[in-house]
Amino acid sequence: MRHRKGVIISGGPASVYDPASPTIDPALLASGVPVLGICYGQQLMAHALGGHVRKGDRGEYGLAQLDITHSDTILKGIEGRQQVWMSHRDVVASVPEDFEVLASTETCAIAAMSSPARRLFAVQFHPEVAHTPCGLTILKNFLFDVCACVRDWDPAGQIESLEKQIRAAAGDRSVFFFVSGGVDSTVAYTLCLKALGPDRVHGTYVDTGLMREGETEFVRENFVKLGARSFEVADARAEFLTALATATDPEQKRHIIGEKFVDVQQHILAGDHFLDTNWILGQGTIYPDTIESGGTAKAELIKTHHNRVAGIQRLIAEGRIIEPLSSFYKDEVRAIGRQLGIDADLLDRHPFPGPGLAIRCLCSDSTGALESTEDGFIIPIRSVGVQGDSRTYRSVLAIENFPINEEDVPRLINKLDQVNRVVVAVWTSAPLATMRVEPANLTEGRLNLLRRADAVVRKLTHESGFDAIIWQNPVILIPLGALTDHNSVVLRPIDSVDGMTASAVRMPAKLLATIAEELRAIKGIAGVFYDLTNKPPGTIEWE
Ligand code: XMP
Repeated sequence: MRHRKGVIISGGPASVYDPASPTIDPALLASGVPVLGICYGQQLMAHALGGHVRKGDRGEYGLAQLDITHSDTILKGIEGRQQVWMSHRDVVASVPEDFEVLASTETCAIAAMSSPARRLFAVQFHPEVAHTPCGLTILKNFLFDVCACVRDWDPAGQIESLEKQIRAAAGDRSVFFFVSGGVDSTVAYTLCLKALGPDRVHGTYVDTGLMREGETEFVRENFVKLGARSFEVADARAEFLTALATATDPEQKRHIIGEKFVDVQQHILAGDHFLDTNWILGQGTIYPDTIESGGTAKAELIKTHHNRVAGIQRLIAEGRIIEPLSSFYKDEVRAIGRQLGIDADLLDRHPFPGPGLAIRCLCSDSTGALESTEDGFIIPIRSVGVQGDSRTYRSVLAIENFPINEEDVPRLINKLDQVNRVVVAVWTSAPLATMRVEPANLTEGRLNLLRRADAVVRKLTHESGFDAIIWQNPVILIPLGALTDHNSVVLRPIDSVDGMTASAVRMPAKLLATIAEELRAIKGIAGVFYDLTNKPPGTIEWE
């Protein structure tokens, strides 16, 4: 411990009063080594030192305004009112001895506290996320002023040595990639391109037909811009669509997509001789993918299946694999990408699930009317959720007005056993009571409708700047119709730190009105809904 320059206790979903919650050896806080507690870390510090932690009157999830009263130590250089990102229910109600309160928000009187003499510091909000613009200054104050760390790590400055490592690993062999259009595989690919030249790096992008509007063109244009010469799009749209034609269950869809991906890759590998000794495999694996606890909420389906392809397993076993980003975090990968000249449009993209729009296009085997209850209308379709550690697959409650306060949503879900998600109707072409769920499959027509709706939402949220302040913004198509229109659209803007938990975000009323206006103009759309469910109990994706 004596050799550490400082310790950061991170946030987490537990409550200090839960007997199973993670804890620390109190000696850590008396060791003289500076400690910064974040969120749960602040509560743990307060609890361990005799302060008081209690359940807040209301949870605080999402953006909050921080009023700073003491701009010293970790808050040095930050004054007045600042936007911060909060995600907590418990609060510190009284600080331990020798501590003073540095800042507060409307619902959290002790939003930052410190005892400079004991070298202990804590914040209730999350300085590590982009939605806390002053967060980086706080982390810098702690690391460089309090802990006296030296700034000697610059991911962008690693490019030359990464290129050298790639050249050494490749020898005189060439590298091929399955690229997805996502940040990691694009940055890894570009590093290899710079290190080995365009003739020795090949990229294949599989068009599954489940991608967003304009995605294949976007990816192709980007790779051409990056100087790729050996780049190819494998058109597997018909294969995927045929395989998925009758699937309505989410797990079945995921399974079919995974299996199909294996087939397609196997075919490409064998057909293009990538398995002979002149080639090695490049992958965009990043550090959180390689650590056991995992930075991702779910093993990425497509990635897991990569590793099941027999040819790829052989390459891995033979050590014929290059993963230039395996020791970097996402933000560092972005910094490297910027240094390499990759467009911000690509680097700042929201995460997008491997199975693509297939899991955002809900299907149904049956027909059914909405069930009217005193709380709203139960839509007879099911979406995936998570409660405790278990998956749920339940119906959706539609209400006609935004709830008065955020507690309404969990209250309704707790009350109605058959429901795990609450949506509000923003616009419907007919009264909710007359709308019906109809049998629907994953057809090209429905995927095109979803692609159009998704493109409209993406364009408007991008232009308004809203997409820059949220984590992800799935658009879902559900087979809920009225009159001659057979589908409705659900908007699901959420904020999250790592995808494990997430909060539903309200978009500005004017933006929502514009989006609804443009969506209702699309032929075939009978309604626009807004998902108000946090994760848990909902998941970010609907399937
Ligand atoms: P859920 O829906 O589990 O999503 O709350 C958490 C995060 O994971 C993404 N996600 C996936 N990503 N393959 C992926 O690559 C998948 O099968 C998959 N399923 C969910 C989701 O978009 C969110 O960011």
